[in-house]
Amino acid sequence: MMGTLLQLYPFLFLFLFLPILNTVLSQPQQLFYSGFNHIPGTNLSLTGIAKIDDKNGILKLTNETSRLIGHAFYPIPFQFKNNNGSRTFSFSSSFAIAIVPEYPKLGGHGLAFTISASMDTLNHALPSQYLGLLNSTNIGNFSNHLFAVEFDTVQDFEFGDINDNHVGININNLVSNVSCNASYYAEGEGEGKLENLNLKGGKPLMVWVDYDSVKSLISVTLSPSSTKPKKPTLSYSLDLSPIFHERMYVGFSASTGLLASSHYVLGWSFKINGTAPTLDLDSLPKLPGPKKKQTPMVVGVSVATSFIALFSLFLGFYLFWKIKNADVIEPWELEIGPHRYSYKELKKATKGFKDKGLLGQGGFGRVYKGTLPNSKNQVAVKRVSHESKQGLREFVSEIASIGRLRHRNLVQLLGWCRRRGDLLLVYDFMENGSLDKYLFDEPKTILRWQERFKIIKDVASALLYLHEGYEQVVIHRDVKASNVLLDSEMNGRLGDFGLARLYEHGGHPSTTRVVGTLGYLAPELPRTGKATPSTDVYAFGALMLEVACGVRPVDPRKAQHEDLVLVDWVWKMYKEGKLLDVVDPNLNGDFDEREIVMVLKLGLMCSNGAPNSRPSMRQVTRYLDGENLLPDSLMKPHHNNQEGFDEFLNPFGSSFNSSDNIGMYASFPSFTNSPVFTPIGRRETS
Ligand SMILES: *[C@@H]1O[C@H](CO)[C@@H](O)[C@H](O)[C@H]1NC(C)=O
Ligand SMILES: *[C@@H]1O[C@H](CO)[C@@H](O)[C@H](O)[C@H]1NC(C)=O
Ligand SMILES: *[C@@H]1O[C@H](CO)[C@@H](O)[C@H](O)[C@H]1NC(C)=O
Ligand SMILES: *[C@@H]1O[C@H](CO)[C@@H](O)[C@H](O)[C@H]1NC(C)=O
Ligand SMILES: *[C@@H]1O[C@H](CO)[C@@H](O)[C@H](O)[C@H]1NC(C)=O
Ligand SMILES: *[C@@H]1O[C@H](CO)[C@@H](O)[C@H](O)[C@H]1NC(C)=O
Ligand SMILES: *[C@@H]1O[C@H](CO)[C@@H](O)[C@H](O)[C@H]1NC(C)=O
Ligand SMILES: *[C@@H]1O[C@H](CO)[C@@H](O)[C@H](O)[C@H]1NC(C)=O
Repeated sequence: MMGTLLQLYPFLFLFLFLPILNTVLSQPQQLFYSGFNHIPGTNLSLTGIAKIDDKNGILKLTNETSRLIGHAFYPIPFQFKNNNGSRTFSFSSSFAIAIVPEYPKLGGHGLAFTISASMDTLNHALPSQYLGLLNSTNIGNFSNHLFAVEFDTVQDFEFGDINDNHVGININNLVSNVSCNASYYAEGEGEGKLENLNLKGGKPLMVWVDYDSVKSLISVTLSPSSTKPKKPTLSYSLDLSPIFHERMYVGFSASTGLLASSHYVLGWSFKINGTAPTLDLDSLPKLPGPKKKQTPMVVGVSVATSFIALFSLFLGFYLFWKIKNADVIEPWELEIGPHRYSYKELKKATKGFKDKGLLGQGGFGRVYKGTLPNSKNQVAVKRVSHESKQGLREFVSEIASIGRLRHRNLVQLLGWCRRRGDLLLVYDFMENGSLDKYLFDEPKTILRWQERFKIIKDVASALLYLHEGYEQVVIHRDVKASNVLLDSEMNGRLGDFGLARLYEHGGHPSTTRVVGTLGYLAPELPRTGKATPSTDVYAFGALMLEVACGVRPVDPRKAQHEDLVLVDWVWKMYKEGKLLDVVDPNLNGDFDEREIVMVLKLGLMCSNGAPNSRPSMRQVTRYLDGENLLPDSLMKPHHNNQEGFDEFLNPFGSSFNSSDNIGMYASFPSFTNSPVFTPIGRRETS
């Protein structure tokens, strides 16, 4: 009897809920999930790596692997308006979230409560700072019809984030309309006391998002407990009617970047024209605890003991062998944020660093193409050898900050690995290789002027970001055509940023070595040895000239000519009023004359021998974007500086003779491609 009842129970259950189920399917007005399994009704639609844990019913949007996206949406759109032209109804939602980062203090990237007119926008979205909501082409577009409340744990300067622990309201964009510290009003007299919250603290947080259609007011309220504080954390006056369509999808999106977090949703309720049903944190599923290490039990049996002794001996040998041969992870390395790959993984990815996969060999080491075994993502792995452990350590500690630099025109650093004196850096793979291949030595593919001009603007915007967009000024130090890479859409992306520092750290403190490439090296650099934003501008000037002329900054084939140095030649032709004669003949005269003249003149301005006379990258981008007009006549690029520049024009000039590295560039025909001063990185370790 009991048995049959139990067997019947599921059907009874279904039968009881059938009427509700029907109304829910046709016209949803309300949702209630306390945990996400065993819910009668429609399952959430999960995409990316989002999944619901069968055991505890927790919705896990991402795990701690880099560059993932997870979406969970109610599959049927809600009706937010009577028709497209009318006012958006009031709505309200409450949910419990938890963010558990891979490294305690470094979250990546964040989670967003999302209301979107189309799932297509989300299916084409990017991970990392884009939070799985938008991509670089549709960002900011009014046609997105996207509303999101972000819980962001990384400070992206590109989007003007205030810090790495904030809540923001976003409309069609990742630049928040309004944002604030993650915080809440604790219970107390009046509105209560403002307390800080840590989004990436790994603890569940309650959130309420309410929209009042009459007042046109959005409010977001946070709390570490189930009781809703009287005062919202964030409110924003905006009529959502132009943003909302008649029907919109409601759900969550999360993404990880170089740094990763697990993003969880424990419960969720939502209601149109009313207050969302209350969730109780205590009755929601519990987060999985931290992974426990299993401690083996040792049973005191004499036979077993001798076996264990033998086993330990083997284990000891094994560990000794491992430590001797494999990655030795030193304590300081564990403090570094960005993804640390295992050497095994990278060896497998590059098929053992075979020459077949060699993409190139630059001043800083060899670059291999690879395919990561797990994600099957294509990457470029740069292998940098370093003799000094001290220098390496300082550099690796900088990876954390380099890894946080992100801009669409920088080649993204995905992670790193250290093995003895070798540092392996993992970058996004750039399908179309480096810019120099398209410019010099009878290139197979000729870039059209529009493409070249776009690439120049791309690199300028990356440099502006490095100089002014980050929390500290980052100097690239090695801007040149072979460091400009082209992605699958022929966007210019600057690579190798920050790498030059490795050599500075490794260099002997008393003789600061100069890193850079002849022709791109500002004249004051060999003298002062100090890289500045203005030395980057100089190199960028040389880059602009070579892109327009299709000639290297210093062309060894013209060694016997007075036209050896490109700047000099362009200046000469400019003075003679024959500026268009320097334009790359490969363009076949197919270019916008106004643009190319501007690029050439700007190239000359940036190549000024006096650092103070060069424009800043901000000014350069204003000129390139046509916001400012160039002066009609230019100052002679190198006469303000008697000391350095003329010597510099002659590569055998006196300022170079003092260098003990003369051998590096004495082999004349190849010097343009390799760093002039390749230092032997060594530093006395104290
Ligand atoms: C919801 O998911 C469960 C478990 O994955 C499945 O058994 C059930 O059929 C799904 N229900 C609907 C309506 O798709
Ligand atoms: C995250 O999920 C992906 C896809 O399911 C899986 O390959 C990867 O191993 C997971 N990472 C972790 C750290 O669990
Ligand atoms: C409202 O606008 C959307 C997008 O333009 C369209 O797909 C939908 O059919 C419109 N609905 C009505 C009732 O006009
Ligand atoms: C960006 O997303 C839109 C959909 O909103 C899509 O049409 C477009 O192709 C995407 N762009 C890229 C570069 O993926
Ligand atoms: C915005 O979207 C519309 C329609 O999809 C498209 O025509 C337009 O080019 C987009 N604008 C930008 C700046 O992406
Ligand atoms: C704020 O929202 C409006 C939509 O009404 C949008 O047009 C505007 O660009 C947003 N402002 C910022 C700073 O993002
Ligand atoms: C945000 O939080 C940080 C750190 O907790 C604090 O220093 C800062 O003053 C806060 N900002 C505001 C506007 O409350
Ligand atoms: C919400 O309220 C408005 C009027 O206040 C009404 O016209 C509309 O039908 C309601 N929507 C839903 C889904 O109940």
